[in-house]
Amino acid sequence: MSRRNALETRPLAGALGAEIPGIDLREAAPDDWSRIREAFLEHLVLFFPGQSLTPTTLAAVGANFGDLAFYPFIEAVDEEPHVIPIVKEAHETKNFGEGWHSDTTYTEVPPKATVLYAVEVPQVGGDTLFANMYQAFESLSPGMRAFLEPLKAVHSSAARRGGGRAEGNEFDGVTFKNRDQPLEAVHPIVRTHPDTGRKALYIDALHTARIDGWSAEESAPVLEYLYRHKSRPELTCRYQWAPGTLAVWDNRAAQHYAMNDYHGHRRSMLRLSIAGDRPV
Ligand code: SIN
Repeated sequence: MSRRNALETRPLAGALGAEIPGIDLREAAPDDWSRIREAFLEHLVLFFPGQSLTPTTLAAVGANFGDLAFYPFIEAVDEEPHVIPIVKEAHETKNFGEGWHSDTTYTEVPPKATVLYAVEVPQVGGDTLFANMYQAFESLSPGMRAFLEPLKAVHSSAARRGGGRAEGNEFDGVTFKNRDQPLEAVHPIVRTHPDTGRKALYIDALHTARIDGWSAEESAPVLEYLYRHKSRPELTCRYQWAPGTLAVWDNRAAQHYAMNDYHGHRRSMLRLSIAGDRPV
């Protein structure tokens, strides 16, 4: 059997997500990478269990999805300037990424993908949830879709909650930087995926400050409705990590939520951003 036929994709839920077991990504052939990139566009989030990666090999694997990008608010690990630690120690109670979001939407050119590698995870808890933003848009009424399509939203790193990197949050395993220099960007509320041409909802409760040209107060009822709508259970999947699992998700069409249900246990991940396009 050729290598091409050997790559197995196991869907995780009706909405999105697939696991691809049995491949060592350090040794994947160009043909494997073509199939993985196809599966990435189809399933929006892929999981590869059983990897054995260092920050350096993680960056090399990640580069198969595109150019590497820098995360603005956390110091990288010593070995690799694009790789940041996401660590919650056993005695800590806040986590990073609690709340549905797409990554760093407050930048002018947000990352197309994020790669997350599990180093140490609790026996139970610390799952990550994902939601399909194509389906979130497509399941709105024609009237609501037409209303939203011309609108833009302001995204700010200082918006409502700011995720784990909000001012005042500290983690022993993470060194923040530039938190006093908020970033802001304006993007379409409905973006068109540059590779698939499909439309996806692109607002989230962690980063979206308001509809562009509207006050925050005026924006809230519309945004709050969309936040509820886009996290309906049937639009989601949930993944239980094991050490050595690598995930890659498409920030242009999926959102994620890091479950904070493992107080008393350590969770340590390495994260890498893949450069994207300006949303249109
Ligand atoms: C994040 O939001 O990037 C963190 C996700 C996670 O740790 O599961």
